[in-house]
Amino acid sequence: MAKRFYIQTVGCQMNTLDSELVAGDLLRAGYEPAGSIRQADTILLNTCSVRQHAEDKIYSALGRLKELKDRRPGMVIGVMGCMAQKDQGQILQRAPYVDLVVGPGQLGQVPALLARIAARAGPVMQVSLDRAGGNRASVAASFAKFTPSRVAGARPAPHQAMVRIMFGCDKFCTYCIVPRVRGPEQSRPAEEIVEEVRRLADDGCLEVTLLGQTVNSYQDKDGPATIRLPDLLYRLHNIDGIRRLKFVTNYPKHMSDDLLAAVRDLSKVSPYLHVPAQSGSNAVLRRMKRGYTVESYREMLARIRAMLPQAAVTSDFIVGFCGETEDEFQQTVELVRQSRFKNSFIFKYSPRPGTKAAELYQDDVPEAVKRRRNHELLAVQNAICWEDNQPFVGRRVEVLVEGPSKVAKKRSAGDESVQLVGRTTCDRIAVFDGPKTLTGRILPVMIEKADGFTLFGRVA
Ligand code: SAH
Ligand code: SF4
Ligand code: F3S
Repeated sequence: MAKRFYIQTVGCQMNTLDSELVAGDLLRAGYEPAGSIRQADTILLNTCSVRQHAEDKIYSALGRLKELKDRRPGMVIGVMGCMAQKDQGQILQRAPYVDLVVGPGQLGQVPALLARIAARAGPVMQVSLDRAGGNRASVAASFAKFTPSRVAGARPAPHQAMVRIMFGCDKFCTYCIVPRVRGPEQSRPAEEIVEEVRRLADDGCLEVTLLGQTVNSYQDKDGPATIRLPDLLYRLHNIDGIRRLKFVTNYPKHMSDDLLAAVRDLSKVSPYLHVPAQSGSNAVLRRMKRGYTVESYREMLARIRAMLPQAAVTSDFIVGFCGETEDEFQQTVELVRQSRFKNSFIFKYSPRPGTKAAELYQDDVPEAVKRRRNHELLAVQNAICWEDNQPFVGRRVEVLVEGPSKVAKKRSAGDESVQLVGRTTCDRIAVFDGPKTLTGRILPVMIEKADGFTLFGRVA
């Protein structure tokens, strides 16, 4: 009987993609997907270490899985991804019933490792070197590039796909664990990316989102001329069948005019730019080692607004970073007020063992203050979201239909009209009624109402 697997994923889009790729490998190896954890005999948790909360969720999920395994001892439990790389053997100490610990740089081995476990070899751990565990080349080599060929059946949405163009990160922002758990920055060869996107297009994929921790520092130096992100976008733009291209996440310092010109000139590239600022205070940015000032961030934003007046710009912020004073926080509020981001993702600082900030600075902003600053900043952003969505009312937008909304999924069975969800090129969510068969179509939708998060309309 085929083994049934279930992958539970937390964390960022990198993890969502990794889970899809691991699922593809398992399908190829003869595994079958299980509809739920309870129906699975191989359960893989794809984990995140970016904040303590993400790790707590995994350890409590593991606690629940222990009860399940006590009743079904043959079950295989695996911990993969960023927390596997960070905590390594500690996971087996805390949860001795775990069978597999596998880091993000070793995911290509999951089927082989599961086979070893099935042969009763005991728990198996496969992780990459620490960043200080060797010279750059050997550390990079230990974070193997995970680029298996794609399996359409593993993709969560048939018309949309993520494609990684870079692995790892070399920025070492002082608060951030990602460079340690994802390894050194490595760009994929452009030719390989073009080939992957061409195959996805042949498979019916309309929208591709390119992924990298600092996606706009992409460079393929192997050929006669260095290929950067704008060059890559030109190549991908030529692929028949692809209708939309997006890329995340941008690093403010590398937002070149060439890149903005490519977004402006290439009709398939969405005018949507995620460029996290993290803070509006120079002192805080310095402590974070972000490598830019608020003035240069504002200058970059002004260039975006001048070259791409329709662009939606989004940002991330950390509140309550070590030593953040009320005045420094208010400078962040000011930046958010003036920048009119389409959206901001706001996080309370969470110290990460192994980072420079955890080593050098005190986590001295009390939790209650972090919480209050989070709410205050969110309120400013939410007001902007609401205001900036209103001009869409009465306008026709082009929407890629992603499928029935969560509410509609629960209720509907046949092909009657249901509530559908789609996305505009500037990454706004639109809902409207229509048959499910519209999924995967790109349609004009007339917007009749808007709140801060959603545009409501009808196909027109
Ligand atoms: N590579 C991306 C983001 C990586 S992590 C970038 O450079 O922007 C996603 C977001 O999590 C970050 O933008 C940051 O806002 C937040 N984050 C990272 N480390 C954090 C920490 N220790 N505490 C709270 N938020 C954190
Ligand atoms: Fe983390 Fe900074 Fe790298 Fe983003 S750029 S992943 S925040 S170290
Ligand atoms: Fe992503 Fe979390 Fe890893 S944000 S890169 S899954 S630490």
